[in-house]
Amino acid sequence: TQPTRYEAETGPAVCQGTIDSNHAGYSGSGFCNGDNATGAYAQFAVNMSAAGTATLAVRFANGASSARPANLMVNGSTVATVSLESTGAWSTWATKTLTVSLNAGSNTIRLDPTTAAGLPNVDCLDV
Ligand code: GCU
Ligand code: CA
Repeated sequence: TQPTRYEAETGPAVCQGTIDSNHAGYSGSGFCNGDNATGAYAQFAVNMSAAGTATLAVRFANGASSARPANLMVNGSTVATVSLESTGAWSTWATKTLTVSLNAGSNTIRLDPTTAAGLPNVDCLDV
């Protein structure tokens, strides 16, 4: 089946930062520019018709030279750590694929940065 796209700039998604549109190549109307701080998260609400394993594709750009690691939290629990590597430019977007178990109905998916640099810019999540 086709993935469903969840935009970081569209509620009920939460961006602990600003919704920006100054770096080309994003989908929708913008992206989440998280605050440069530990714990400044981007969160998505993902709906599933049935419980099971799901593939998450996070689209992001990291124009900094270093990776910006984050905890991947599903429904409040950390299930993985994710290294969101430099993409070389803020207008160069990359996709990171993650596999998680989700519940039927609504699920909260949070990228919770573990360093003071915060997250890369986060565009959307495909599930
Ligand atoms: C730059 C860039 C932002 C980015 C920020 C960062 O200011 O324009 O889009 O979020 O760096 O380092 O997080
Ligand atoms: Ca930022």
